[in-house]
Amino acid sequence: MPEYAQSLNRVNPLPDLNTLVRKARLSDVAEMYRIINYYAESQRMLPKTELQLYENLRDYSIVTDASSTDRVLACGALHLYWENLAEIRALAVDHAMTRKRLGTFLVESLLSEAREWEIDRVFCFTYEPKFFSRFGFVRVEHRSLPLKVYNECFHCPKFNTCDEIAMVLDL
Ligand SMILES: CC(C)(COP(=O)(O)OP(=O)(O)OC[C@H]1O[C@@H](n2cnc3c(N)ncnc32)[C@H](O)[C@@H]1OP(=O)(O)O)[C@@H](O)C(=O)NCCC(=O)NCCS
Repeated sequence: MPEYAQSLNRVNPLPDLNTLVRKARLSDVAEMYRIINYYAESQRMLPKTELQLYENLRDYSIVTDASSTDRVLACGALHLYWENLAEIRALAVDHAMTRKRLGTFLVESLLSEAREWEIDRVFCFTYEPKFFSRFGFVRVEHRSLPLKVYNECFHCPKFNTCDEIAMVLDL
């Protein structure tokens, strides 16, 4: 197991929730698909296919119950973009488990992973700017992230009507 993956096995400091963050496994994909696409159905995030999840599985971390580590409570990915740039994407907490700090726990782990990769800047595209601003993310113009716009947004059906908010955090 790579060093950064080992260090991601963090135990939640909250005593009432016995959770930990670990890298995703093949057996987690069905639950990740369910959690993400629940929100996609109401346009709260972009959908993911199972193929997209399997192809990019090594980007993903999950929050799980420490006493039942098959259970996926939340998932999110750190996608490397360039030598100094990465994106937090597909961050989703099981809808029955929101507002219990699981999203915060996962973002903190993904940011630690970014630091271990010596990434200088992390960005996200989101409908939840208030949540991300708590970590120091600030709003930017989409065009300030040309790699993302030309590489991915260009192919998105919402390219001209995108209402997601671009945010960056300098580490
Ligand atoms: C956004 C999301 C990841 C937050 O995760 P979470 O575990 O529910 O959030 P936390 O409990 O860690 O939130 C901590 C704080 O962030 C803020 N916050 C969280 N969700 C928020 C929201 N929807 N709107 C405004 N503030 C929010 C609150 O201040 C909250 O503290 P409080 O509950 O004491 O008021 C989760 O609600 C989710 O999966 N949403 C749907 C998918 C999505 O929008 N993903 C994000 C971008 S791709």
